Amino acid sequence: CYLDYIKFIGVIFMKISVIGGAGYVGLITALGASSMGHEVISTDIDEKKVQNLKINVSPIYEENLDSLLEFCNSKNKISFTSNSNEAIKESDLVIISVGTPTKINGEIDLSQVEMVTKYLINSIKNYTLIVIKSTLPITAVNVMKKELDSKFESGVDYDIISNPEFLREGRAVHDFYNPDRIVIGGDSNKSINILKEFYMPLINRDLNIPNNIFVSDKKIPIVETNLPSAQMIKYGSNAFLANKISFINEIAQICESVDADVNDVIFGMGIDPRIGKNYMQPGPGFGGPCLEKDLTALVELGNHFELEATFMKAILERNERQVELIFKKITNEVEVNSEITILGLSFKADTDDIRNSASIKLINLLVEKGYKVKSYDPKAKYTLNNQKYTQYNQIYASIESSNCIVIMTEWDEFKNIDLNKVYELMDTKIILDMRNLFDKNNDLINNFNYFGIGN
Ligand code: UDX
Repeated sequence: CYLDYIKFIGVIFMKISVIGGAGYVGLITALGASSMGHEVISTDIDEKKVQNLKINVSPIYEENLDSLLEFCNSKNKISFTSNSNEAIKESDLVIISVGTPTKINGEIDLSQVEMVTKYLINSIKNYTLIVIKSTLPITAVNVMKKELDSKFESGVDYDIISNPEFLREGRAVHDFYNPDRIVIGGDSNKSINILKEFYMPLINRDLNIPNNIFVSDKKIPIVETNLPSAQMIKYGSNAFLANKISFINEIAQICESVDADVNDVIFGMGIDPRIGKNYMQPGPGFGGPCLEKDLTALVELGNHFELEATFMKAILERNERQVELIFKKITNEVEVNSEITILGLSFKADTDDIRNSASIKLINLLVEKGYKVKSYDPKAKYTLNNQKYTQYNQIYASIESSNCIVIMTEWDEFKNIDLNKVYELMDTKIILDMRNLFDKNNDLINNFNYFGIGN
């Protein structure tokens, strides 16, 4: 049997296809699997991205991704194609990492998953392990299973397993090689053991990667559960992280009213190991493709089972209010028609991703109100068909003649800015620092009309 075979030969290298292999999760997973010695076919419907990946051009900006891509391509253990049907036919293990975006009405858009289900029906002939990496609504997995069971010819054998990822954008390569845990949720020992075997080179740190990628020797815990529990671990984790941010943003707001300093409050609270100080930085609200989406999915799941997820709703509502509060601060301090410089477009530093970015929401509110908005970001781009908005590709050019700077993203470049030069360039000297990059007691900062967050 399969497992005896594994035991007999030791580590087994598998044939893998990664569907959605040009996206954030898919690309990192495909390269990661290739560096573990598996033979990987990475597939994506976007032909241009596929062609670019073949010549070492990554569709996303991510620390160490370019060198990893080049390295894996040079080893010939990965290939890129847009033909998912052919890739699945060749594979022992199919990793699904297609997008599951939220529709305008709040529902999850499952069209890409439905398409992959069709590929699976067309192409699976022998036992195949289907690994779900995309954060799929729990009810959608049952729909997928039913569809596969009704369409497969008799004798086709497969298992579905949930293996959620916890990669942070900007740190995704690092997180892949240094996971806090590997969660495997499945309904059979066979499927769980195969996936454990897939991860064995990572667990044993038997990796073929460029030297600049850090790999710790910390033991990686494996969490084995049933399928819905693995999915709930992912939803629960992201909801809890989002909860921490909405919580600290509200504490910061109250701090401002009572003249407390949120940085001291976080320090004092965080010493208690039950609380901790990680992931407690107040800011413009959480953005990105995951936290809001996963909270919304939990609210939907609650509705589905007629349970009102009031707590999840409150986290989301508090987050939506955060950008409005920043907007209000600006309108209180700066006259309409003035020039405002927004520093940072991406939803956080070290990524070019502007999905659900508070910065973009703020720019739209300001332009609509009549401000002239100038922006700068080291990596991200945002265009708006409006004469009142311009993106600059040089930080000091974006600040010249400005009346107010709003720091929205915690890029290192902003922390290291020349404050004397900024002072000279600005017309009126107002800084709203929504990431608390500066110490408000710093002499240079004291020359400005400076507002941090929660202090
Ligand atoms: C998140 C989860 O961290 C990751 O485990 C999951 O796989 C995907 O979703 P990501 O969206 O890449 O990762 O970013 P993350 O670093 O978690 O930040 C999310 C948002 O919260 C950003 O807008 C960030 O600026 C904000 N944030 C984060 C804060 O405002 N304060 C903090 O202390 C931490």
